Parts: sequence; C-alpha cells; structure tokens
Amino acid sequence: MKVISTEKSQILATSLARALKVPVVDVKYSRFPDGEQYLVAGELDDETIIVGSVVDNDAFVQLLLMIDACDSSDNQLVLPYMGYARQDKRFRQGEPVSARAIARALSRGVLEIITVNIHEKEVLKYFGVPARNISLARDIGLYIKTLNLDNPLILAPDEGALTFAEHVASAGGWDFDHLEKTRLSGVEVKMTPKQLCAASRSVVIVDDIISTGGTIATAAGILYEQGAKDVFAACVHGVLTGGAYAHLKAAGIREIICSDTIERGCSKITAADQIAHTIKKG
Ligand code: R5P
Repeated sequence: MKVISTEKSQILATSLARALKVPVVDVKYSRFPDGEQYLVAGELDDETIIVGSVVDNDAFVQLLLMIDACDSSDNQLVLPYMGYARQDKRFRQGEPVSARAIARALSRGVLEIITVNIHEKEVLKYFGVPARNISLARDIGLYIKTLNLDNPLILAPDEGALTFAEHVASAGGWDFDHLEKTRLSGVEVKMTPKQLCAASRSVVIVDDIISTGGTIATAAGILYEQGAKDVFAACVHGVLTGGAYAHLKAAGIREIICSDTIERGCSKITAADQIAHTIKKG
C-alpha cells in the first residue's frame, strides 16, 4: 500500500502515510502554458490511497487526473473536504445537484471512498462505490480540553449542527446548546442560545464548515452582548474564504480552530489518525 495526494492535501496525506506506516508516492505537478494541469506520479502500488480535498475547481480537476494516473481498481479515495457538497438538493427547477455531479465523477476508478464530516450524510448515496464518513467532533472536543476552559458552553450556530455540538461536548461532559433566531419585526432578529445562558461563560461555537465566517461572527457579537466571557470558534473544514480569518478575529473570536482536511495555519487537529483507523478496519 502507498499514499498519494493532490497538491493541497500533502500535509494530511503525509500524516496519514505515517499513521499507516506506508510510503508516500512522489508527484510532480505542473501546468501547460494554457493553464491546463499536468502531473506525473512516481512508482505506484496496486493498492494506493489517493488523498485529495475538493477545496476549489483546480483541486477537483487535479484529483480526477490523479485517479486516472493511479489506474488500479483496488485504489481507495480519501476525500477529506468535499466542496460543492452543500448543494445537495435541487432547490429550484433547472439547478444541478452539484454534490451528486461531483460524487459521480470521483467514483470512477476507485474501489471505495472515505469522507470526513461530509456536510450532509445523504450525499454518500450519490457515490457509485461504497462510501464511509468519519467525524472529527470528538477530536475537536479533545482539543478544546487542552484549552483548560472553565465549564465551557459548546454552541451550535443552528439546530442542524446540534448533534455535532453534542458529540464535541461529550469529550468533556460539557453543556451544549444551539442558537435560535427569533424574528422581532420585519427587520429585527434576535439570536440567543435556546436553553442556556452564555453570560460569564467561555463559549465555543462549533460547526462543520466556516466559510465566510459570517455566521460565527454574527453569533459572537450577540454572545458578547449577552455577557459571554470569551468566544472561540471550532470547525472541521476551515474554508475561510476571502477575509474570513481576519473577520472572525475582528469579531472578538479568541481562537479559531480547524482540522487539516483543508490545510490552514489554524489546522490544529488532524484527520489522519481516524482515517488510518478506518482504512485498517477495512
Ligand atoms: C452551512 O450549512 C454550514 O454548516 C455552515 O454553517 C456554513 O457553511 C457557514 O458559512 P459562513 O461561514 O459563510 O457563515
């Protein structure tokens, strides 16, 4: 067995290879003058673990090229972050189900797929091969433990992320809740934790993805108004588009925590150990 990765998933792939005690395949990535991508993989194995997050369109094309270059029906694909997964339904006539389009394309040429905190588990059915999803919720909880916060409140930004918050909170037996929006008037919306009070507490807002940071920055402002002591933000996939990191810091977020499914300066949690465990289980 060997591990190979696209350009933007090299750090996670190297950690995964270390956890599996297998070598990493050397790859040369380049471009033609017109911008088209090209790659050459070093010596492959019959069983290769291909690691590549779809963080942008280039990363998607590179992953397709890599699956083709590896060319063995025994290969597994590790898809740590699946871009386009949020468009998982046809909301209006004429739209694509983008998650399905990406899933179908990536299923050709691999035996199995492993995803990490895929935005919606229903998307797994769109892959044309068996697909398993792992969750880093507990790993985020274990990282929060190292911050030694006094009785933190783990907060989901909406009800949809409540189960995720519950799993994070289980690492330390902490309280968890979700924010609830109440419309006060046509223009005024109140956002507050549904059951618990944030006053004088350290609050960790947890979500699967931080994209623009807008959701968490708004929530942080409200929590500080309600007397929260400190607000932290933790997610699996730090998309952090545009000026998201600076926006969150300006909103008073004490620390931004994400995993290495997308490699960032604030990637403090690795998905490698859980992925290795899942691969070893078979
Ligand atoms: C949405 O469904 C996701 O779970 C996140 O809540 C969302 O992507 C966060 O987006 P943003 O950081 O742009 O507010």
